[in-house]
Amino acid sequence: MNPALKANAYFNVLIGGGSGFIGKELVKHLRMKHNINSILVSRSSGEKRITWNDLERRGLPENCIAVVNLSGENILNPLKRFSEDFKEEVRRSRIDTTKKLADAIVKAEKKPQVFVTMSGVAYYPPDENKVYDEDNKCEEYDFLSKLTKDWEAASNLPDSVSVRQVTVRSGVVLGRNGGMIDNIRLPFKMGLGGVIGSGKQWLPWIHLSDIAGIFDHAIQNDNVSGILNGVAPEATTYAQFVKAYAKAMHKPAFFPTPAFAMNTIFGPERAKVILEGQNVMPKRTLESGFKFEYPTIEKAVDEIVNIYIPREAVFKE
Ligand SMILES: NC(=O)c1ccc[n+]([C@@H]2O[C@H](COP(=O)([O-])OP(=O)(O)OC[C@H]3O[C@@H](n4cnc5c(N)ncnc54)[C@H](OP(=O)(O)O)[C@@H]3O)[C@@H](O)[C@H]2O)c1
Repeated sequence: MNPALKANAYFNVLIGGGSGFIGKELVKHLRMKHNINSILVSRSSGEKRITWNDLERRGLPENCIAVVNLSGENILNPLKRFSEDFKEEVRRSRIDTTKKLADAIVKAEKKPQVFVTMSGVAYYPPDENKVYDEDNKCEEYDFLSKLTKDWEAASNLPDSVSVRQVTVRSGVVLGRNGGMIDNIRLPFKMGLGGVIGSGKQWLPWIHLSDIAGIFDHAIQNDNVSGILNGVAPEATTYAQFVKAYAKAMHKPAFFPTPAFAMNTIFGPERAKVILEGQNVMPKRTLESGFKFEYPTIEKAVDEIVNIYIPREAVFKE
């Protein structure tokens, strides 16, 4: 544990996109576990927020010991066509925001200790047989894989800037109030859930609390740098996830969604995120000492569906 970060509300962590699904969990995590303040960078102004324009004009806030980026337009927004304009917005919302934070770090007189950024497992080509870890170097193969490469490249700081860097390649984040679970909760509740596509595709997933935990781990530990896969250690297919989720909900799950329906709703390029998957292991994440709270899909969906533990209670020690 970095002693300079220990339990001190005097320090700030600056979080681009901290108002979102994962950002809110990270803000809570930092406050309740370490009593560390978060300041968000957002498109809108407000309490404990600065805008992207403020960041460009005035730079990093005072006592900023870590910078994080979690900004990004939701790729699987079914209300938006996967048009060239939307793709540009998807790229801009990730790459430009990451660059703006990197620029602010370069210009800052007093540097933060660490820059932690987000990426995705789309970096690894979908494959039913291959097992990937952080050591695999992959060529870009489609829009989303190019996005992850450019997103990661945008976070690179010049060699002359000595700030520790960590990039988290996240799988699908499962949690109560957002992400994929929000989209499927209602059909499952009505007993209309089921597999999507063949069900044999891998679903690289992680519980919301664990993805926030990995960002926290990356901030707190001086020995952590480079790529960390943000996925649970237990490989899970989509069919195994559906079985576990339906069981936790005490509902049947006999209504499959065929691949063509997903292709129609999202367009084939985007539907791939759900119809094809990667078997990704968090090798470096585990080696760096991170302990998963939710290593199995059964434990994760049980918490999401059945258990309500206020985070205050979890972090009170
Ligand atoms: N959720 C997942 O399953 C998952 C999996 C892998 C990777 N990720 C990535 O992790 C990051 C955080 O995920 P999340 O689920 O927390 O995302 P989210 O809730 O959908 O969005 C995060 C924040 O990004 C900002 N944002 C949204 N659209 C934007 C736009 N067009 N331009 C600039 N900023 C925009 C918003 O902040 P303001 O409104 O305050 O500006 C929003 O609160 C995203 O980059 C996402 O792609 C998520």
